[in-house]
Amino acid sequence: MCAGAAVPSVVGMSDNRTAIITGASRGLGRALAAGLAREGFDLIIDARDAAALDAAAGALRAAGATVTAVPGDVTDPAHRVALLAAAPGRLDLLVNNAGTLGASPLPALADYPLDELRAAFEVNVLAPIALTQLLLPSLRERGGAVLNITSDAAVEAYAGWGGYGAAKAALEQASNVLAAEENTLRVWWVDPGDMRTRMHQDAFPGEDISDRPLPAAVVPALRRLVAERPPSGRYRAAELQPAVPAAAPGGQA
Ligand SMILES: NC(=O)c1ccc[n+]([C@@H]2O[C@H](COP(=O)([O-])OP(=O)(O)OC[C@H]3O[C@@H](n4cnc5c(N)ncnc54)[C@H](OP(=O)(O)O)[C@@H]3O)[C@@H](O)[C@H]2O)c1
Repeated sequence: MCAGAAVPSVVGMSDNRTAIITGASRGLGRALAAGLAREGFDLIIDARDAAALDAAAGALRAAGATVTAVPGDVTDPAHRVALLAAAPGRLDLLVNNAGTLGASPLPALADYPLDELRAAFEVNVLAPIALTQLLLPSLRERGGAVLNITSDAAVEAYAGWGGYGAAKAALEQASNVLAAEENTLRVWWVDPGDMRTRMHQDAFPGEDISDRPLPAAVVPALRRLVAERPPSGRYRAAELQPAVPAAAPGGQA
């Protein structure tokens, strides 16, 4: 499927497990897409920049992956329906990875422009919940899993990170409740740790972030989650490497 079309074709997809990964044109989403393809998943990926998404899809296909690219914005209801249409009745994994830092440089809450705060909540909270709502029937069909990418900023009080952190905290609690409500699914919310990505550079403009690990370093931890299906709960990628704990702190059976 070429990026740019409004509604993707699913013709040619195999009986493999299928994963939707939002925000997979670069950064963690792209690295995780490659990792899940190696795990045997067919992929449905999105991002707003159609050209960048198409390039990522092309690289994944060149490595042998089956990829449907659906360009669009996760805050757009029509785009979310297009993602649903790409995986009718057969979804094994939803990764809500697309996210935004919000205002950059990071303002104190005292000065946070409310329109930018609202936009950050739209991307980081409303959109993942809305996409999950749409895909729950397909996920329940297969006893699937939802993997929500959050942050240490959801639980730590870093000056300047109030907007992003509050949104990620809301996503964490939404994940927690979803896990309590959807007993046939796995719901994991994961702090991936610092990674050398565009978002991280935006958080530290002008700073040298070359000491941060590349997103590929986090992928083995996330692959373990998907492969071993530990209980629903909050996980830190750093604690998933090298082994999944028997039960995560705060996790639910
Ligand atoms: N990097 C870190 O240190 C770090 C630490 C903790 C948590 N995280 C979390 O990890 C996740 C991935 O972050 P990253 O660092 O890999 O960021 P990134 O390199 O900036 O990549 C973000 C991806 O999401 C897409 N995206 C952004 N907004 C979108 C939207 N509204 N609709 C659809 N796609 C959208 C981007 O493509 P387009 O711009 O073309 O849409 C891109 O593919 C995020 O949830 C982030 O909060 C990152």
